[in-house]
Amino acid sequence: MTERAAKDSRIRSGEPRGQDQQGQCVALRGEILTFLADPEYPNGDLNPDAWQHWSDGLVICRNGRIEAIGPADQLLPLLETDCALHDVRPGLILPGFIDTHIHFPQVDVMASYGETLMGWLNQYTFPTEQRLADATIARETADFFLKELLRNGTTSAVVYGTVHAHSVQAFFEASEALNTRMICGKVLMDRHAPDGLRDTAEQGERETRKLIETWHGRGRQQVVITPRFAVTSTPEQLRSAGNLLREYPDVYLQTHLAENRHEIETVRGLFPEAQDYVDVYDRHRLLSPRSIFAHGIHLSDRERERLSQSGSQVAFCPTSNLFLGSGLLDLAGLEAAGVTTSIATDVGAGTSFSLLQTLAEAYKVTHLQHQRFSPVKAFYRITLGNAKSLGLEAQIGSLAVGSEADLVVLDPEATPLLARRMQRCQSLQERLFAWMMLGDDRAISSTWVAGRCLHRRSAEPRKKEPTA
Ligand code: GUN
Ligand code: ZN
Repeated sequence: MTERAAKDSRIRSGEPRGQDQQGQCVALRGEILTFLADPEYPNGDLNPDAWQHWSDGLVICRNGRIEAIGPADQLLPLLETDCALHDVRPGLILPGFIDTHIHFPQVDVMASYGETLMGWLNQYTFPTEQRLADATIARETADFFLKELLRNGTTSAVVYGTVHAHSVQAFFEASEALNTRMICGKVLMDRHAPDGLRDTAEQGERETRKLIETWHGRGRQQVVITPRFAVTSTPEQLRSAGNLLREYPDVYLQTHLAENRHEIETVRGLFPEAQDYVDVYDRHRLLSPRSIFAHGIHLSDRERERLSQSGSQVAFCPTSNLFLGSGLLDLAGLEAAGVTTSIATDVGAGTSFSLLQTLAEAYKVTHLQHQRFSPVKAFYRITLGNAKSLGLEAQIGSLAVGSEADLVVLDPEATPLLARRMQRCQSLQERLFAWMMLGDDRAISSTWVAGRCLHRRSAEPRKKEPTA
């Protein structure tokens, strides 16, 4: 057999070539979709120059980064012999998904019955977060959580720990071992929370500072300053969070905003001098292009305007908003006002780790308000769109040469229903819509982090793929 013929037979069989254990060189052959820009014009027309799509493509990753991408027939002859080749056809290769708002300690709160925000926090969430006072539980929960993200194709996330600094330490240690790009923060909460879950403004600042100095920019780990929300932080603590945000110019800030009407009334009572909820955060200098506000459902025009001016973003969490009965986010209204938006699960009020399921619920929430939520834009949102909202588009969210090699492979035949529905689809758009409406963790056949396969779905109904 010639070298070329040997290569082709390996490609057909899906056998790995070379070795990729060190993440040195690995190539995936399959259908590929990646975005260059927002694919939707403001009038809803699609811009076909905003994405790249190869029905038979090859993406080559070396030392954890994308080295080359293009049509398989052009790139295969150039493949170095040290490169492990994985044939994932008929899978669709995408950049790894990004979740901009999620709580790792809340995996054990998911699916807790019958409450709205404040009752849910008091009855289920705070007691669960109290358990992470035990560092062993924190570590085990972080490990489980990260595995669950990868099972769902999510390779980066903006994550809440608990008030215990060791929970974030445990999270970063687990993430560093996997080499996932994660952004995590210690919850700041110095009032209106039960014993064992309160810090003080001084302690919160000291512990956050220490986490920043230890972890921010160490490998792929980054820190986010995390006042839980205005209800559970004194003005002194919010001021301290604002000071930290100015002091560390590439650290993020996250909190919750205008999720629930009762919450908004409580905030009004606690901060009578503020014009509205956004103004509470504004007065403490928490608005910035690095600030992520979860929910933002019940906002006035003035509040939207101020979020837009400051470059702050709203994380849309549809499964959570439906589960807690919080309301329907006016996504189009926010975007028309110039507010940056991202999309997130908000586990544990969110009901799924799957960003595919999150897109399905986002479609329904916007559809109820007669808004467009096209499948191409939807997949842009969970990849490059979310990366851009975090200013991380040079690192993650696309398969551009030089990007970090985080990838996900979607299986069009993940379930009998999906396989059947896919056969009727006539365009990429139709197939993307079927994946987001009918897909979940079962549709993720493999997840790759910095060029290494960290998840491969075990019950592979179609064929057995090689383990990396
Ligand atoms: N508001 C304050 N804390 C939380 C939380 O943990 N989850 C949600 N959904 N909203 C919050
Ligand atoms: Zn949340």
